[in-house]
Amino acid sequence: MSMATPIPATLIPGDGIGPEIVEATVMVLDALGANFDWEICQAGLAGMKAAGDPLPPETLASIHRTKLALKGPLETPVGGGYRSSNVRLREEFKLYANVRPAYTIIPGGRFEDIDLVLLRENNEGLYVGFEHYIPIDGDPHAVAMATGVNTRAGARRIAEYAFDYAVKNNRKKVTIVHKANIMKALTGLFLETALEVAKKYEGRIECDQRIVDACAMQLVLNPWQFDVLVTTNLFGDILSDEISGLVGGLGMTPGANIGEDAAIFEAVHGSAPDIAGKGIANPTAILLAAAMMLDHVDRRDLAARLRQAIDQVLNEDKVRTGDLGGTASTKEYTAALIRRVAA
Ligand code: NAI
Repeated sequence: MSMATPIPATLIPGDGIGPEIVEATVMVLDALGANFDWEICQAGLAGMKAAGDPLPPETLASIHRTKLALKGPLETPVGGGYRSSNVRLREEFKLYANVRPAYTIIPGGRFEDIDLVLLRENNEGLYVGFEHYIPIDGDPHAVAMATGVNTRAGARRIAEYAFDYAVKNNRKKVTIVHKANIMKALTGLFLETALEVAKKYEGRIECDQRIVDACAMQLVLNPWQFDVLVTTNLFGDILSDEISGLVGGLGMTPGANIGEDAAIFEAVHGSAPDIAGKGIANPTAILLAAAMMLDHVDRRDLAARLRQAIDQVLNEDKVRTGDLGGTASTKEYTAALIRRVAA
C-alpha cells in the first residue's frame, strides 16, 4: 500500500500557521505510508529572514528539480514591501490553472451538500499586480494605476483545462464567470474565448455564464445550481474565499496550482497571523491539498484513505478545531487522524 520508491518533492513550511499545519500534514502522510522524499525550503517572510529573499534561489532550484511541491501559506506585506512570492511562483513555473474544490464534509452547517470546483486562471489579469503610482504636486501617491493583461492563449488554456477537468471528473456543467458588461475587452476576451472552447464540448458538458457580482450573490442564494466555475485571476481569488465560507470556512478548502513545469499544492487560506503559534490552526485544508497531490502522483488509493480519515475524525470521532466549533488543538486533531490512517 505504501509508496515503494520515494517521490522527491519540495516542502515549504511557509509563514504564520504554515509550519504548524505543514508539520501536522507530514506526520499524517508518514502514517499513511505516503513516501515523499521532502526537500525542505523557505519562502515568504521565512525566506526573507533565512536568506534575505522571499523566494530564495535554492527554493526555485528545488522545485525545478522535483516539479512537485507542498506549500504552507506565505505572507505578503500589504501596500508596500516585496511582491507576492505566490504570484512569482505561479509565473516562474507557469502554473496557469488554480484548482479549488470545495465540498461539504461536516453536515448540519448553513449549506448542505455543497460540491463545487472553482478553476481560476492563475497567470494573467489584474491580480498579477502590474501597478504604479503617478506623483503630483509632491504627493508620491496622487494617482494609482493598474494594468490587467488577458490573452486569448491564456483564456483558452484555462477554459480547456476546465472543460477537460469536467469530463475527467464526471462533472456536468461549467459556468464561465466574467464582467464583460463593464470590462468589455479584459474580461470580454475571456468570455468570448471560453465560449469558443465550450462549443467543442457541446453535448458532453453543459455551459452557462454569469457576471461576477450576480454570481457572488447566487453562490449564497442557491449554490447547488453551480458545478464547475471557471474565471479570471482576481475574481477567482475572491469567489474561492466565498465558496470556502459555504463549507465551513477557510480551514476546509485546498488548492492545486497546475502548470507546464510543476504542480504546487496549498491551502486556499493565508498565514492566519491572528492565530499563529497558538496551536489551534485547522490543518484540514492543507491535508486536502496533500490528498490532491497524491491524486496528482497517481496514488488515488492513498488520497482516498486520507479523505476518508478526515471524514471519520470530523464526523465520527467528532474531533474538531475551534474554527469548526470544536475544542481540539492542532496536535490533538493530528493525533486523531494518525489513529485513523494507521488503523
Ligand atoms: P487568512 O486566510 O490568513 O486568514 C483569514 C481568517 O481566517 C483569519 O481570522 C484566520 O485566523 C482564519 N483562518 C485561516 N486559515 C485558518 C485555519 N487553517 N484554521 C483556522 N483559522 C484559519 O487571510 P489574511 O489574514 O487576509 O492574510 C494573512 C496573510 O496571508 C497575508 O499576508 C496574505 O497575503 C497571506 N495569504 C497567503 C496565501 C497563500 O500563501 N496562498 C493566500 C491568502 C493570503
